[in-house]
Formats: sequence, structure tokens, C-alpha cells
Amino acid sequence: MKGIVFNLLEDAVCEQYGAETWELLLDDAGLDGVYSSLGDYPDAEIQAIVTAAAIRLNVSESSVLHWFGETAMPLLKTTYPEIFEPFHSSRAFVLSVNTIIHPEVMKLYSGARCPFFKFQELPDGALQMTYKSSRKLLDLAHGFVMGTAAQWNERVTIERFPAGSARENDMIIRWLAD
Ligand code: HEM
Repeated sequence: MKGIVFNLLEDAVCEQYGAETWELLLDDAGLDGVYSSLGDYPDAEIQAIVTAAAIRLNVSESSVLHWFGETAMPLLKTTYPEIFEPFHSSRAFVLSVNTIIHPEVMKLYSGARCPFFKFQELPDGALQMTYKSSRKLLDLAHGFVMGTAAQWNERVTIERFPAGSARENDMIIRWLAD
């Protein structure tokens, strides 16, 4: 995983819980916490920090990833306003993740391995997104979509399906009227 993801997690934790909490999580995870944004680090390290956070905060690892994705999005917008600027809605932004957003990310972070999503627009206007990646980080994508909606002052609900079921990689996003 690219160092930028660790940097974002550090910023999110420090902003909300303080720098001492970040140090505690690194201690728990047995890591030194030196991450350069362009570097590449084992996925197991981000997993270890998420596990440590879940234990310390007494929440599920899924909740930690939702929170991280949601909190990271405004930080990403501050760093890369030009990536967000062309879009007039969170739906348009989400729909362009394979074709514009992540390709731009791969130019910035050479060697980044971004997930692919299959999209299906449902008859009731909802958007079904199917996660394709070996990394099992749909919970992070879920948080990213929540955080994306907030950037356009929109509200969404996200429906998920049980782990182990045929639809475990699907999420259905519904935009709520004001
Ligand atoms: C709704 C929009 C987005 C979704 C759903 C999304 C989803 C994800 C997920 C789930 C991953 C983890 C890797 C995996 O599962 O294989 C990931 C990786 C990543 N994403 Fe996105 N993302 C979004 C927007 C963005 C934006 C706006 C940026 C930066 C401006 C970004 C930068 C990255 C980077 C740097 C990685 C790490 C890749 C690596 O370490 O190899 N993403 N994204």
C-alpha cells in the first residue's frame, strides 16, 4: 500500500484522537511509523494499525475503515482540489473512479494498485458498485463514498450484504433528497 494511505491515516487519527493515540497504535502494531508518501509498504502494516485501532476504540475493524475513508476524503480534497473540481455531484465523481480518479492517482503515485469497480444503475435510481480487488477493502471504499457525498453536501445510504454471501462485494448507494 502506498505511503500516502498511511500518511492519511496518521492525519485522520491525529486530528481526531491526538498524536499520542497514533503513537500508541504504532506501538500496539509493532511498527516504527516511518512512511514516505511515494513509498510502498506491506498491506499487513495498514491491517495491523486498523486492528490496533479497533481494539483500542472497542469497535469493529469495518467501522475503523468506514471512519478512515470518510475522514480521508476531505483531506484528499484539500491536497488534490483539481481532481474534485470538474465534478458537479458526488454521483458523477464516484462513477468516474475507474476512468478518471484512480488513473490520475496512478500518475501521481507510480506503482499504485487501485481497485476496479463494476457499476450498475438500478431502475430506482440507486447505484450498485461491485468491488474487484484481492485486498478486501470494500469497507474503505464504503467510507470513501460516504466522505465523497459530504464533499457535495449530499447524503447517501449504503446497503451492504453479509460477508461470505454471493453479494459480499456489492454495495448499493442511494442518494437522499434534501
Ligand atoms: C469514491 C471514490 C473512491 C473510492 C471508492 C476509492 C476506493 C479505493 C480503495 C478501496 C482502495 C484500496 C485498495 C484496494 O482495495 O485494492 C483505494 C486505493 C487508493 N486510492 Fe482510492 N478511492 C476513491 C477515490 C480516491 C481519490 C480521490 C484518491 C486521491 C486523490 C484516491 C487515492 C488512492 C490511493 C493513493 C490508493 C492506494 C493504492 C496503493 O497503495 O496501491 N482514491 N481506493
